[in-house]
Amino acid sequence: MDIKHVIKAKQFADKEILNTLFHYSQEFERLDKENNIPQIMKGKILANLFYEPSTRTRFSFDVAMLKLGGQVITTESAGHFSSVTKGESLTDTIKVIGGYSDVIVIRHNIVGSALTASKVSPVPIINAGDGIGEHPTQALLDLYTIWKEFGRISDLSICMVGDLLYGRTVHSLIHFFSELKGITVHLVSPPSLKLPEKYKQILRDANIEFEETYDLNKVTDKADVFYITRIQKERFATKEDYEKLKGSFVVDNAFMSKISDGAIIMHPLPRVDEIKPEVDDDKRAAYFRQAKNGLYMRMALLKVLLGN
Ligand code: CP
Repeated sequence: MDIKHVIKAKQFADKEILNTLFHYSQEFERLDKENNIPQIMKGKILANLFYEPSTRTRFSFDVAMLKLGGQVITTESAGHFSSVTKGESLTDTIKVIGGYSDVIVIRHNIVGSALTASKVSPVPIINAGDGIGEHPTQALLDLYTIWKEFGRISDLSICMVGDLLYGRTVHSLIHFFSELKGITVHLVSPPSLKLPEKYKQILRDANIEFEETYDLNKVTDKADVFYITRIQKERFATKEDYEKLKGSFVVDNAFMSKISDGAIIMHPLPRVDEIKPEVDDDKRAAYFRQAKNGLYMRMALLKVLLGN
């Protein structure tokens, strides 16, 4: 697999590549249980450069690198704690950090920033989320979760719920759906947070059936996967705009009683109020398993980028 940087989901929208990543992830999970992870990153340094907050992505890359025998340098609020405050450009920052490390994981508020970074970086760049653009490593771990839960990533009905306008994990997943067989998509969002036309066109071009609705109750019996997303406060211009839409969709025990026994609830997390904690103990609540899967998928990506 000849992959230099991880920038967009589309780079991985290939059956063989996905299969390889799934099997690497599964193998790392097995080896982790045996406390026997090969130290293939010994002598290598990962730089986590985060301009936006993160819990899962940053920590899972940290832990993935450490478990593989490598080391980590990190800044969790790069906009405040790096020389960006003195006016340094992103490209200069990348050229410098690329001289100190073997791989850079970047989360930035500007769409296209990871691509910009990759053009000047002497080391691989991993896009950990670029504004409302993409979050390819999240989409990969999401697909890995579906593969583990169902034993396949084809012939499934998938319901995307919440902020489909700004949700970068949703955008990355749409690129993958277009490569999968037998996928039906249900899009559930408030009218002002609908999936952008360019992503709907990707579905149409791939002959994927999809329907849009604003009513989650209309799809309770239709999906295998409910992919719930947060209404993202930080993407709204005013607090009032956010307040109007917050709490639009709620997954609670009453909702769980209406969906099928074989369905699962996924969420990239963090959640706010869209999934009630009462659902957490339901076996169909897959979101914490999903977050754990991220650790192994990120190990697999490090192996692909640096392992050889
Ligand atoms: N899913 C996700 O990207 O979580 P974090 O923002 O905590 O990294």
